[in-house]
Amino acid sequence: MVREKQSVVIAGGGSTYTAGIVMMLINNQDRFPLRKLKLYDNDKSRQDIVAKACEVIIQERAPEIEFAATTDPEEAFSDVDFVMAHIRVGGLKMREKDEKIPLKHGVVGQETCGPGGIAYGMRSIKGVIELVDYMEKYSPNAWMLNYSNPAAIVAEATRRMRPESKIINICDMPVAIKKSIADILGLKDENEIVDRYYGLNHFGWWTEMRDKEGNDLMPILRDHVRKYGYTAVVDENNPLLEEASWKDTFLKVRDVQGVDQATMPNTYLKYYLYPDYVVAHSNPDYTRANEVMDHREKIVFAECRRIAANQTAVDTSIEAGEHAEFIVQLAGALAYNTYERMLLIVKNEGAIANISEDAMVEVPCIVSKRGYEPLCMGKIPHFQKGMIEQQVAVEKLVVDAYQQQSYEKLWQAISLSKTVPSATVAKQILDELIEANKEYWPTLV
Ligand code: NAD
Ligand code: G6P
Ligand code: MN
Repeated sequence: MVREKQSVVIAGGGSTYTAGIVMMLINNQDRFPLRKLKLYDNDKSRQDIVAKACEVIIQERAPEIEFAATTDPEEAFSDVDFVMAHIRVGGLKMREKDEKIPLKHGVVGQETCGPGGIAYGMRSIKGVIELVDYMEKYSPNAWMLNYSNPAAIVAEATRRMRPESKIINICDMPVAIKKSIADILGLKDENEIVDRYYGLNHFGWWTEMRDKEGNDLMPILRDHVRKYGYTAVVDENNPLLEEASWKDTFLKVRDVQGVDQATMPNTYLKYYLYPDYVVAHSNPDYTRANEVMDHREKIVFAECRRIAANQTAVDTSIEAGEHAEFIVQLAGALAYNTYERMLLIVKNEGAIANISEDAMVEVPCIVSKRGYEPLCMGKIPHFQKGMIEQQVAVEKLVVDAYQQQSYEKLWQAISLSKTVPSATVAKQILDELIEANKEYWPTLV
C-alpha cells in the first residue's frame, strides 16, 4: 500500500521531548511518511536550540521533508494533518513552584497530582485551547494529539469548552510501564502485551495483561511486582530508572499493588495512596523540577547545541523512546486506518459502566480513520469507584473554577484532593498558589 504523506506540526517545539519525536518520525518514514514537519513555540530562543538540531537531523537523514520552525500561528498551523502538542505553560520554573508550595505545608508537591497538578491545570487550559483554536482556524480537518499536562484536567476542559474538536489527550505512562513489564517478562516490547485497563489519567489499574496468544501474564508479574515493583532486575535497560525519583516510583509499586492485589496499578497512584511516604521522601528545597532542569533539560539542550555546532548528528545520543513511538503510532492508526488498540483519555459514555457518563477516563480504544472507539471495561469495584469518583470531582471543580473564575470552587477542588488533609491547609496552599500564578490564572473572585 502506498501511504499518503503527512504534514505535522509539533507545538511546544522547544520541549525536551521534541528532538525524540523528530527522531522517531525520521526513523519511520516507511510507516508514517512526511511531506512537511514544522515546530511551533511561543518562545523563539528556546525553540531555536531544538530547531537548529532538528534541521541538521532532517538534512542528513530525510532531506526531502520540508522543515520549518516558527512562532507564527498561521504559518505553523496551516496545511497540517496532525498537531502533536506538548506545551508547558509557565515552564519548569512554574513547575518548581507547583511542587514547592504544597510541600511547605506537608502536602505532596507533584507536576500533575494534588495541588501542584491543579495549579498547572489552571495555567494549561488557556494555552491548549489556544492551540485547538489555531488548528481549527488554519487546518480544520487536522487531529490534535495532546501530551500537554495535566492531561486529565486538560481533557475535561477541552471536552467542555471545545466539544466538537478533533483532539485526543494521551499519556505515555501506561506505555512506559508496559515497556518495563515486557522487559521483566522477557517479551520483545510493550506491543506484545494486550491489556484491559480503566481509570483516569495518572489514576488507573490494569485488570488483565495477556500475550498475543492469550496467555495470562498476571500471575508471574504479580510475583515479580511483590519483590521489585515495576523495576526490571537489570535496571540499566530502562533509561527512566537512572533517575533516583523514577527508580523510587517504580519500586514503590510493591506497596501500591499490595493495596489491591487483583490489579496492577499506574505508578501515579503512589501520590494518592501513600502521600505521607511521598512527603517524607521529598526534599522541599530540591524537587523533581530541579532534577529535570539539572538533568533532562541540560542533557537534551547540550546535545542539540552540539549537533548544531558540528552540523552533523551521525553520532547523536538522542533516542526515540516509547514516548515518541506512542504518539507516532497513534497518528499512524488515524491516518492509515490500522484499527490498533491503544489507551486514550476519552469521554466515558459507559466504558466504565458505573462511573458518570461525562467523566474523562483512560481506557483501551480501537483507533482507525474514523477516530477512536472506547472498549467497555464493565463495572468496577468499590475501592476504585470511590477513588475515581473523588478524583473526577476534583478535576471537574478545577474546570468549574477556571470557567467561573471561582475561588470557592478551586478551594473545594484542593480540599477534595486525597493528597490534602483539610480545608484549612487547602486554603493556605491556594492563597500562595494564587500569588505565584498571578501572570497565568484568571482572577478568582
Ligand atoms: P518544556 O518546558 O521543556 O517544553 C515545553 C515547551 O512549551 C517550551 O518550549 C515552552 O516555550 C512551550 N510553551 C509553553 N507555553 C506555550 C504556549 N502557550 N504556546 C506554545 N508553546 C508554549 O517541557 P517538557 O518537560 O518537555 O514537557 C512538555 C509537556 O509535555 C509538559 O506539559 C509535560 O508535562 C508533558 N508531557 C506529558 C506526558 C504525558 O504522558 N501526557 C509525557 C511527557 C511529557
Ligand atoms: C511520565 C508521565 C508524564 C510526565 C512525564 C515526565 O511520562 O506520563 O505525564 O509528564 O512522566 O515526568 P518528569 O518528572 O520526568 O518530567
Ligand atoms: Mn502522563
